[in-house]
Amino acid sequence: MARAFAPGKCILFGEHAVVYGHPAVAVAIDAGVEVSIKESTKWTIEGMDFDPIRHPHITHILRDAFNYDGAPLEIDVKSGLFSAAGLGSSAAISNAMGAALQFHIEPDLAIDRIGLARMGHSAEANAQKGRASPTDTATSALGGCVVVSGELVDGTKHIFDATLDTPEGERSWSISKTTIPDGLDAWIVLGFTGIGSPTGRMVAGVASLLDADPSKEKEMEAIGKITHAGLAALSAGNLEGVGIAMDTCHEKLKSLQVSSPELEHLINAARPHSLGVKLTGAGGGGCMVALTRDPRRVAEAIEIAGGKPLISKLGAEGVRILS
Ligand code: PMV
Repeated sequence: MARAFAPGKCILFGEHAVVYGHPAVAVAIDAGVEVSIKESTKWTIEGMDFDPIRHPHITHILRDAFNYDGAPLEIDVKSGLFSAAGLGSSAAISNAMGAALQFHIEPDLAIDRIGLARMGHSAEANAQKGRASPTDTATSALGGCVVVSGELVDGTKHIFDATLDTPEGERSWSISKTTIPDGLDAWIVLGFTGIGSPTGRMVAGVASLLDADPSKEKEMEAIGKITHAGLAALSAGNLEGVGIAMDTCHEKLKSLQVSSPELEHLINAARPHSLGVKLTGAGGGGCMVALTRDPRRVAEAIEIAGGKPLISKLGAEGVRILS
């Protein structure tokens, strides 16, 4: 049996603006997806017949990334992530599947996180009609705090570059990492609204808004600047600075009309006990994130307000083999 775990992710700064070439900062979270595989006499997933159409990410990893032609596999997937919530669950499935399959085929080979990030990105692009940023797959594969941008961001460590042929032409990104100081007395608490986060629809909505009102461009530029400031504060361990940047980023996202009454309700519940709080990911539904020194209290506040909380440290380890 080969088992691998890949974490989910949370975008701290830069969602939506990253689509226009500005940087985004994401951290790997403690919760994620575990994939186990073992040889069998027929292809199954979760005890049922494996239907490639229902599992495009896993199918892409098997067929296109590995060209797998070995014995049928019994595949099991255990997820600790809310799905369609902006936590990168499909990226985590791709990365954990890639790592488990790699270990199954060549157990002595060291884990290649950049290779897995690339594989995961092509699986996402394949499943999303050629449009996918490498943010989720890179953060889940590499772990820690990842910066994705049109160009390398000063003060970060370059890890790799990604390019993708999209229906709108070739796009490229620089993926780098920043170190979060050890021993920070702060956690993130995610709050799921229970409503799916429709990334494609939200990105298209922002594009129409910019078309109709070009003055909204300045919100994008402001998010770019806030992201740089938030990243500098995070690298320096300045938690108050990170919190202020999160609050300001949320105001700009609101002005891009990507928040929702449900997100605002959870954000308002978490705010009194938080250093900073904002929506995370595409918005419209999905999750909010709070930075706090009192994670239990924030989780309780989110739960009382009707959300589903998830506590994590800032920046968990990336994809790994379990056995
Ligand atoms: O898919 P989510 O919810 O993690 O958010 C995607 C972030 C966006 O900036 C809105 C879209 C993108 O491709 O970067």
